[in-house]
Amino acid sequence: MIDGFGRIIDYLRVSVTDRCNLRCRYCIQPDEVKWLRHDEIVTFEEIIQVVKIAVGMGMNKVRLTGGEPLVRRDICTLVAEIARIDGVDDLALSTNGVLLEQMAFSLARAGLKRVNVSLDTTDAERFRDLTRGGDISRVFAGIAAAKAAGLEPIKLNCVVGGPCQHSDLLSVQRYAIAQKLELRTIPFMDFAAGRFSVISGSSRGDCSRCNRLRLSSDASIRPCLFSDLSFSIRELGVERALRLAIELKPESGGRCSHNWMHGIGG
Ligand code: 5AD
Ligand code: SF4
Repeated sequence: MIDGFGRIIDYLRVSVTDRCNLRCRYCIQPDEVKWLRHDEIVTFEEIIQVVKIAVGMGMNKVRLTGGEPLVRRDICTLVAEIARIDGVDDLALSTNGVLLEQMAFSLARAGLKRVNVSLDTTDAERFRDLTRGGDISRVFAGIAAAKAAGLEPIKLNCVVGGPCQHSDLLSVQRYAIAQKLELRTIPFMDFAAGRFSVISGSSRGDCSRCNRLRLSSDASIRPCLFSDLSFSIRELGVERALRLAIELKPESGGRCSHNWMHGIGG
């Protein structure tokens, strides 16, 4: 599919849950979060339907995100069902790594190709603080298991700025080199400034080359993370929601009032 600005849209990011087993300071404010009700969360049937129709429209890359995608019940079943869809050439997953040790082999067997792991520091105390209680040894074990299961290339995503310090980044850089992992930095975005904050549009990349759409965990298609445009597949039907999102995908990111990275999938 080609959007209104001539961009080829071939990448679908799917947020399978707004829940997470960590509470990263830059992402989730525990006293402010409104979790989706279970009947609001996108179903496996809806996800499969969206992927099938999106592939029919020319998409060929799918990434599962959250929240934390590995806390969604039966995620391996979903992976297997997506992997089976003809035309899905790349199937990846973004995770905080906490549950990877126990799930990496099942995920690989189900047809997952590779994982990105969020890692903002390698210091156990700093990690506990940044994630409000997380155990970094789980993440290291998860990365080792992903390697052993062949979920490669493994990429690390490291948020820089905000609550993350320069020394945190340095520690992750050292770890990435030692482990021979690709490292990508993600600039901290401040959503706390209040509703309707302006986020510098292309801070996460080049809008003119953006190739993605998102299916958020509330069953809506979102054409841009830095926009409030959202097309409910339940209200509009999958095909119409996808077409509207592609037609109306903004030229570049602008204003957005959400503070809901964990429901849209970053
Ligand atoms: N700034 C930048 N990235 C964020 N994420 C969540 N909140 C923020 C933020 N405030 C991203 C992180 C995380 C994913 C779920 O979303 O990369 O791993
Ligand atoms: Fe969970 Fe990722 Fe948000 Fe951390 S950044 S709370 S791991 S969704």
